[in-house]
Amino acid sequence: MKIACVSDLHSPHYFDDFVKAIDNFREKPDLFLIAGDIIDRGRINEFDKFFNVIFGKIFCPIVACFGNNEYVNLRKELREKYKEIIFLDDESTFLEISGIKVGIVGSTGSLDKPTTWQKRNVPDIERIYEERVKLIDKLLAELKADFKILLIHYSPTYKTLKGEREFFYPNLGCEKYEKVLVERKPNLVVHGHAHNGTRKAWVDTVPVFNVAFPLSKEIVLINTEENLKAGITKFV
Ligand SMILES: [Fe+2]
Ligand SMILES: [Fe+2]
Repeated sequence: MKIACVSDLHSPHYFDDFVKAIDNFREKPDLFLIAGDIIDRGRINEFDKFFNVIFGKIFCPIVACFGNNEYVNLRKELREKYKEIIFLDDESTFLEISGIKVGIVGSTGSLDKPTTWQKRNVPDIERIYEERVKLIDKLLAELKADFKILLIHYSPTYKTLKGEREFFYPNLGCEKYEKVLVERKPNLVVHGHAHNGTRKAWVDTVPVFNVAFPLSKEIVLINTEENLKAGITKFV
């Protein structure tokens, strides 16, 4: 299975580079995953530009989670407007791809340390983030599929944050998910948000990809046959 992934275009900021990247992308993926922050700071009209670029180019199922830049109050509109995209906001879905039952859990995720803005503006944000760890654990536990994917915006480990300033790790992800990954063993984890982090790492035998566009500067292609020999081959 070939899975193409992208996140953190922060359109308009990286939009032109994304257009070039998609032009150079010659693969025919079986699944296209979007790990959030396609638009910058709630600029909802930018999503149209993104959608127009992938329309006519990507013919496989498209599944997305929301980033912190897709503000909560815009999410309903995005879902209604772009029905071709399966948006997952603390939800799961199933797809049949080449005879394989693929289960995907999608979420914005959690931060160990909410941002100052979040603390001021989102009541009970710490509790929301704590509860979300439990919810994702539950969704993964209930996911009955041959191939299980966690699609999450914030990093569920600090391992893919290497390259960022260590002081900011708690603002970029939540380490509590590591236990969830070890316990529930999804076959693949895809996240974004860490623009200067590391592209891939392992949490136990679980492969974790950071697909933030400012980091990879390309559409990340994950070939499940080659890239996910968990526990046998470690990424270099
Ligand atoms: Fe971002
Ligand atoms: Fe983000």
